[in-house]
Amino acid sequence: MRKICFYDTKPYDKVYFDLYKDKFGFDINYFETKLNSNTAIMSKGYEAVVAFVNDDIDAKTIDILYENGVKIIAMRCAGYNNIDFKATYNKIHVVRVPAYSPYSVAEHAMALLLTLNRKIHRAYNRTKEHNFSLNGLIGFDLHGKTIGVIGTGKIGRIFIDICKGFGMNVIAYDPYPAKDADFPYVSLDELCKEADIISLHCPLTKETQYIIDKNRINQMKPGVIIINTSRGALIHSEDLLNAIKEEKIGGAGLDVYEEESEFFYEDLSTSIIQDDVLSGLISMPNVIVTSHQAFLTKEALNNIAEITLQNLQDYFDDKPLVNEICYQCTKQNKCNKNEHKRCF
Ligand code: NAI
Repeated sequence: MRKICFYDTKPYDKVYFDLYKDKFGFDINYFETKLNSNTAIMSKGYEAVVAFVNDDIDAKTIDILYENGVKIIAMRCAGYNNIDFKATYNKIHVVRVPAYSPYSVAEHAMALLLTLNRKIHRAYNRTKEHNFSLNGLIGFDLHGKTIGVIGTGKIGRIFIDICKGFGMNVIAYDPYPAKDADFPYVSLDELCKEADIISLHCPLTKETQYIIDKNRINQMKPGVIIINTSRGALIHSEDLLNAIKEEKIGGAGLDVYEEESEFFYEDLSTSIIQDDVLSGLISMPNVIVTSHQAFLTKEALNNIAEITLQNLQDYFDDKPLVNEICYQCTKQNKCNKNEHKRCF
């Protein structure tokens, strides 16, 4: 049996990967620690490493993995902004799960919007205390409102369909518009000016980092609601907090936070959180923070486990790596994968 090691394991990861490991014939050693330059040493003796969104896969970590004989990193997620791809190139293959359930994330984005708008989080707490007052719980009809969707890939398109079901007007921004779109594309400036609600569904890249900052917020309608289920650093968090304090923004539903790796996925209920921006955001009545859980459905976890192990089996069977990614992949026709079925 081939041995693989697994970083940042949570109980639910183990449940779903254990369901599939025998089918693929892998022996999985589950580590609870995150992967970074201090913990990469634990990979000695393994050819394959399974990693996740908040692992720190920088050049130093990659050097240690490479010296340890690791041949492939299997990301059990879609995003890959936490990897230094120049350092992995020609050394360690990187595969990922490009889609496991776009519905899970799109539905969570709508859950955040509905909860925020109709103040369900506050009503839940009130009725638990037998406080049946309605003061301060007024929302607005989503029907007829304009939603601006930034990024119209797999998740963005499903979110748009959900919004249409609510009778909302959809406008979208994406530098690579879909040819079969049944909604209008507008410029980012126009989207910011026109939308009552803005939802982010683009990847984190150099171009999209802080795509929402104080300048963009100043373009937006007063009282706009912002939903982010993509990556924390798409939003300048301090600018967001200031705009919420100044009551420019009506609400924010955040499944991701730019400094989340220190906090998310851990029970810190008895710790003092040292991040004043995160504490400030969480303390606001019109902000909901969930800890990067948009993907967390049974369907998604099944798909993540099966596709991750299939990616690894394809590597060991010398098959094409359909889900491989490298820094050349994003440049059209520049990647070896187009001809040789692997990035290198
Ligand atoms: P996708 O690759 O199908 O779509 C991304 C879209 O963003 C593409 O249409 C692309 O053209 C567009 N885009 C690229 N640069 C842009 C820019 N500068 N401005 C606007 N749009 C831009 O990706 P998918 O599957 O829809 O996922 C979107 C993001 O959701 C992922 O990158 C990931 O960060 C996040 N995600 C979050 C999860 C969670 O649990 N919270 C789970 C899965 C994904």
